[in-house]
Amino acid sequence: MAKVISFATQKGGVGKSTLLMLTASAVHNRTKKKVLVIDCDPQKSVKDIYATEGADKEQSYDVIAFNWKQARSEENFDKTLALAEKKYDVIFLDVPGRIEGKEIYFSVLVSDIVVVPVVASVLDMRATIRFLKTLPMIKEMKEKQGYKFDVYGIVNKKDQTVEHQKLKELSGIGGMEFFYSPISNLVRYKRGISTVYDITDPGLKDDEFNQYFDEFCTKCLF
Ligand SMILES: Nc1ncnc2c1ncn2[C@@H]1O[C@H](COP(=O)(O)OP(=O)(O)O)[C@@H](O)[C@H]1O
Ligand SMILES: [Mg+2]
Repeated sequence: MAKVISFATQKGGVGKSTLLMLTASAVHNRTKKKVLVIDCDPQKSVKDIYATEGADKEQSYDVIAFNWKQARSEENFDKTLALAEKKYDVIFLDVPGRIEGKEIYFSVLVSDIVVVPVVASVLDMRATIRFLKTLPMIKEMKEKQGYKFDVYGIVNKKDQTVEHQKLKELSGIGGMEFFYSPISNLVRYKRGISTVYDITDPGLKDDEFNQYFDEFCTKCLF
């Protein structure tokens, strides 16, 4: 049975697409799992990066874009996902950061796991709290139908500011558990994004991305 993992929150610019691509490339390169990314964001970040990979595309995981503006989008989304679940082991959903659209709600509803990137600024935190508070209702619905539903927070763009201490206050809201390993604000995450290549050498034990990814595998994959 495929795992559906969405990177979602109601805020743009917090690193949903970045962390999704870093994670998807690592799953693709380091495990035997078949990976699909469904890009549900009209900005098409993942699809755009995929388009620039040139000949390397052959080695990429699969990427499809889903247009939520089409007629009967819910029905078509369910169909797309049902087909994908037969072919892939892990399906990542890249979700736009707008709570008004139905994209977030439906993406979260079909997910087994939601990963919420969190950035330490007052505005980002307020938006995150609003989003987290919508999740227990979905968890209850899913659990009634016999499905599991887990929510993990990941601290992104970590720096030395005091605001980072405050992020701990978000732990537990809406059932969210933080990954122990944060992702720092580093140039490599701006430049090194690919749908083909790993961001780092998996053998480097002290690399923060590898620490995060080990945790991701334990909590979300196996
Ligand atoms: N850990 C990080 N360090 C440095 N820059 C980052 C990091 N995560 C994201 N960014 C940058 O922040 C911007 C927004 O990231 P993006 O993944 O597009 O966010 P979202 O999908 O939530 O809108 C991009 O310019 C991206 O390169
Ligand atoms: Mg995005």
